[in-house]
Amino acid sequence: MYVQILGSAAGGGFPQWNCNCGNCAGFRNGSLRAKARTQSSIAISDDGVNWVLCNTSPDIRAQLQSFAPMQPGRALRDTGIGAIILMDSQIDHTTGLLMLREGCPHQVWCTDMVHEDLSTGFPLFNMLNHWNGGLTWNRIELDRSFSISACPNLRFTPLPLRSAAPPYSPHRFDPHPGDNIGLIVEDLNTGGKLFYAPGLGKVDASLLQMMAGSDCLLVDGTLWDDDEMQRRGVGTRTGREMGHLAQNGPGGMLDVLEQLPKQRKVLIHINNTNPILDEDSPERAELVRRNVEVAYDGMSIVL
Ligand code: MLT
Ligand code: MN
Ligand code: ZN
Repeated sequence: MYVQILGSAAGGGFPQWNCNCGNCAGFRNGSLRAKARTQSSIAISDDGVNWVLCNTSPDIRAQLQSFAPMQPGRALRDTGIGAIILMDSQIDHTTGLLMLREGCPHQVWCTDMVHEDLSTGFPLFNMLNHWNGGLTWNRIELDRSFSISACPNLRFTPLPLRSAAPPYSPHRFDPHPGDNIGLIVEDLNTGGKLFYAPGLGKVDASLLQMMAGSDCLLVDGTLWDDDEMQRRGVGTRTGREMGHLAQNGPGGMLDVLEQLPKQRKVLIHINNTNPILDEDSPERAELVRRNVEVAYDGMSIVL
């Protein structure tokens, strides 16, 4: 299986257009050694020609342009995107559907909860209906693996994760299973297994077991510290409130990953305030020491 990191940053990207935190300002003035990053999205394929897009970020046009295999050019109008899976209904994971309107209809896989949000608070399904059949909904059942005809050798298993629905969700203050999922993707030919969870608020024993059974962990790298937004003076919400387990501190993501010595470990969905973006930071050195990688746009993983 081919896993292509199209975008490795959290909402806002890096640098964020209106942000002058140490990272964003340091990147702009050249004092910080770091890579710019677009908003979170990956593509997965079993043959390198037909792809399943996981999340569709507002940066999708630039992401497709920077990755030639997703434009195979077999017809006058063509795309390598065979289907789209949405992990939740957040703006930074779904808005790119608007940019893909010229290619409708699209096969979109998501849970009931995400479909409801995208038919009410952020009605992408209704809006895009006006473009050549719009978005065809394929329901993700929480207790069932599924396959997608574009990539017949891949098996997808949804993992309901604890997180909050976005501000425009009708059930914003009433969390439901299916508001946010992770995925296990298994290649039935190679046996390779990917664990993908860009929004991961809590790791319990059963989830840890799923992680232990995977070859590569592509997990939530949003924040280094739970109160990082406050520390950097750019916001009030904690990682916990946003459904993101921070890396640092007791029970943090690094402690979780420490229990998984055999897996390849890669952090994704990195917020622009996170010190790991600075390639010369002590936090980044700590990741190197622990064998934890930081995803970047254009990174390829083969499993
Ligand atoms: C998230 O996944 O929590 C988002 O990055 C939040 C946002 O877009 O503001
Ligand atoms: Mn996000
Ligand atoms: Zn910033």
